[in-house]
Amino acid sequence: MIPKETIDKIFDTARIDEVVGEFVTLKKRGVNMLGLCPFHNEKTPSFTVSPAKGIYKCFGCGKGGNSVNFIMDHEQLTYPEALKYLAKKYNIEIEEEEQTPEQVIQQNERESLFVVCSFAQKHFTDNLHNTDEGKSIGLSYFKERGFRNDIIEKFQLGYSPDKWTKFTDAAIAAGYKTEYLVKAGLTIHSEKQELTTQYFDRFSARVIFPVHNITGRVIAFGGRTLKTDKKVAKYINSPETDIYHKSNVLYGMFFAKKSIIAEENCYLVEGYTDVISLHQSGIENVVASSGTSLTVEQIRQIHRYTKNITILYDGDNAGIKASFRGIDLILEEGMNVKVLLFPDGEDPDSFSKKVGHEELKTFIKQNSNDFITFKTNLLYSEAKNDPIRKAELIKDIVESVAVIPEAIVRSVYIKECSRIMQIEEQTLLNELNKIRRKKFDDKRKKGAEEESVSDEIDILTEAPQQLINIDDCEYQERDVIRLLLNYGHLEVMVDGEDEEGKKTPMTMRTADLIVQELKNDSILFDNSAYQVIFNEIADSIEKVVPLPENYFINHNDKTISATAVDLISFPHSLSENWEKHGILVQTEDMILKKSLLNAVYSLKVKKLSKMIDESQRQLKEAQSQEDVLILLQQQQQLNEAKKLFANLLGRVMLK
Ligand code: CTP
Ligand code: MN
Repeated sequence: MIPKETIDKIFDTARIDEVVGEFVTLKKRGVNMLGLCPFHNEKTPSFTVSPAKGIYKCFGCGKGGNSVNFIMDHEQLTYPEALKYLAKKYNIEIEEEEQTPEQVIQQNERESLFVVCSFAQKHFTDNLHNTDEGKSIGLSYFKERGFRNDIIEKFQLGYSPDKWTKFTDAAIAAGYKTEYLVKAGLTIHSEKQELTTQYFDRFSARVIFPVHNITGRVIAFGGRTLKTDKKVAKYINSPETDIYHKSNVLYGMFFAKKSIIAEENCYLVEGYTDVISLHQSGIENVVASSGTSLTVEQIRQIHRYTKNITILYDGDNAGIKASFRGIDLILEEGMNVKVLLFPDGEDPDSFSKKVGHEELKTFIKQNSNDFITFKTNLLYSEAKNDPIRKAELIKDIVESVAVIPEAIVRSVYIKECSRIMQIEEQTLLNELNKIRRKKFDDKRKKGAEEESVSDEIDILTEAPQQLINIDDCEYQERDVIRLLLNYGHLEVMVDGEDEEGKKTPMTMRTADLIVQELKNDSILFDNSAYQVIFNEIADSIEKVVPLPENYFINHNDKTISATAVDLISFPHSLSENWEKHGILVQTEDMILKKSLLNAVYSLKVKKLSKMIDESQRQLKEAQSQEDVLILLQQQQQLNEAKKLFANLLGRVMLK
């Protein structure tokens, strides 16, 4: 836990232009700064940073937030991780609040494993570059494969010599405990009495590929033998440890994440060497599943950065077909899957070395096919003349389509499959609905009600759901809070009274005016974030303690800060120019009072309408004469109030 004062200090110190500027080239544009959005691919800059407000917003993809949000999003860190990142950048010391003894032990254990792995990586890398055996065997192997020096260094490749205990001995000599060497999977403990030593290296006589976690720390290793002996396993990998859960890790993710975001796509390959070779060819948005089938955790990790996956295959048809079930998992996550087949006998590693960088890029772009279309074509070509296999094929394909969460996407695929296989669309639709119904029933039987199964069975013929409920006050509530946040500190002229009760114009802060108006009629917000913002502003007015600048943008509650960022508008920098040319831009603050009254009265009218509806509903169910009378009276008052505000609203609009 990071103490609140430290969090506040981080927020106060971090400057959005500096934080963003580390990753994006920003140019000054009026009061704002402008650059190319790092979250989507764009050619003309629409990524705007407001140093004054401490926020960024992309008008292309809609991403926005404060410094901490930016680091979370860009570096894919959690909230505390992002705070620590910024603390480090600005030399702010974090004294973490006390942890429980168990937490301390666990934290230390994990940290020890990281430290041991980092030592091992340095040891193996050192062997590769600075020992005779390393250079003549390991390094020359990598060179023979065509790996460049900068790439060997970037991936921190290494070598472990043909000895039993070299690493373990070195680690113990450097002061590391065997307990952690074993727990990190680097050293193997044997109880066999006849051995001269009980501890020996897991990786020996192999070139070493360190595996990094998402923040770039080494958590595991893969070691490739250089022997061609079929009895020796080609790769040995670290076992599961407290810091390495194989099913959660994708090889290369640390080096790929930035490029995945920028390219809006992730290439998936099989092995370490494929990742490395593609990097060398300038394709950096690539990760490897390391020979095993994809897990849901891995897929979700990719999904954090992009919706699009392209699988690069080197296998034969049998191998490809075996992977089809795994791909359904990706579709099920709502992602788009493409596949690409390399020419016979080539894998991404070998192919990337044969052709130039541009040629490789073009090849991949031109030969990537949508997965469902690819699967349909592949299976259809094998089955089209065999009616029994054709029936199986339909079922097989439709099963893939059935896992796709979005109905629209499913319907597009059904059309496409019907075209390729020359089968009536309706036949495929029937099969699809059958499968989805069965899935739905299975899920219900498993008692997985909480998993939003209710919307699972949206059969294709159904109309799309209405997204916005016209009965609710979201729009009006939002407008009032938006004005409060953007213009609360500005003053407007209102009709006031002097000491003798005579009408006289006076100034009033916008925030005071809104709060007073809404409090007078006891208006409450349905949206709880708006209510929190309103309460905190009202509170500060009552206590006469102004809120700090950018208070809501940097709010501790993430929902509140996200809402604030969403509602805060960027100051117009265009107007300077336009005014120079004699064009007067009517910005909102110039017509502030009108906007203000409009928003407040609209909200009141809407709320009153809802109250009237509710009262009418109660009237229908009223049990006694007395209740009826009370309700009728209430309705009359509500109607009068509504009429009053509707009138005021009309007058505002006409002015
Ligand atoms: N793999 C493994 N254990 C094996 C074989 C393979 O863990 N015995 C994993 C490795 O992560 C490997 C991936 O599966 O990178 C793909 O296997 P393969 O294509 O055989 O290896 P490459 O990485 O292509 O290695 P090379 O090009 O050197 O043959
Ligand atoms: Mn290979």
